Amino acid sequence: MDSEKMGQLMVERREEVERILQEYLPAIDGLQKTVLEAMTYSVLVGGKRLRPIMMLESYRIFGGSEKVIEPFVAAIEMIHTYSLVHDDLPAMDNDRYRRGKLTTHAKYGEAMGILAGDGLLTYAFETAGAAFSMTDDPARVGRAMQVLAQKAGIYGMLGGQVIDVESEGKPGMTLEKITQIHTLKTAALMESALMIGAILAGASEDQVGQMEQIARSVGIAFQIQDDILDVTGTQEVLGKPIGSDARNEKTTYITLRGMEASVAEVKQLSEEAIGKLRQMPGDTLFLEEVVRMLTVRKK
Ligand code: IPE
Ligand code: IPE
Ligand code: MG
Ligand code: MG
Ligand code: MG
Repeated sequence: MDSEKMGQLMVERREEVERILQEYLPAIDGLQKTVLEAMTYSVLVGGKRLRPIMMLESYRIFGGSEKVIEPFVAAIEMIHTYSLVHDDLPAMDNDRYRRGKLTTHAKYGEAMGILAGDGLLTYAFETAGAAFSMTDDPARVGRAMQVLAQKAGIYGMLGGQVIDVESEGKPGMTLEKITQIHTLKTAALMESALMIGAILAGASEDQVGQMEQIARSVGIAFQIQDDILDVTGTQEVLGKPIGSDARNEKTTYITLRGMEASVAEVKQLSEEAIGKLRQMPGDTLFLEEVVRMLTVRKK
């Protein structure tokens, strides 16, 4: 696929995700309206929408064509956004820019930043719950909810953030530990994206497991690339400050192995994922292109 065609497809998919988000975000009114405003701001301010795009594509690869995927598409972007809002808090990475705009706590204050993150996390499950009445196979929806919770929580993204912050400024980081951090803090949500698409489309347990493995490689590569861009990128393009990792004394894949080996690892992991994708049934070309594009992304 040529890169112009790919760029156009990505825009279309992003617009599709944003239409779904608009539909499922809460209305801004009532006495709690500041938090609703902060939640909406954080979600709609920008972002690549990568996880929902991956989820929609996985659903289609396995033959899904119903609206039951949509509450989950909205929910995963809410959870991802909550993870960013909290990641940027003063107690965490302490960053003031995200997606090209002020971070939520910088704009609305720290208390609202915490509450908007909490609000997005809870509302994600309220939203996903709408899928129960949109299907004649509610067991699939139940399984999808369980995967979403597992991959976001203590055995997933949140668990990874814990190890990440506890490792700041400490010696003794190993490649094994870094890979564990990346697997949890970043790959887990991507795993849930591909798994939920497959589950809701009725894929077999084995296929769901394959999609989990594919997303794991993509996610680890994605975080290495994120850490590379934290060194080599620019705030104008990234929409978030560079040098955040160094400022927080994070040992990254780059500080351990060097830039060249890190770039090579991103390629290697992505090739692995593409190889496995090719063995899946259905048309995986678009998703393969997404994975390829991520290896050269600048934001
Ligand atoms: C940023 O994720 C957080 C990481 C896991 C590195 P993205 O790079 O997908 O952020 P947005 O959604 O495009 O802003
Ligand atoms: C965070 O990793 C991953 C999350 C779970 C939010 P980073 O701290 O490197 O993400 P950025 O660079 O702030 O987006
Ligand atoms: Mg962080
Ligand atoms: Mg951060
Ligand atoms: Mg980063």
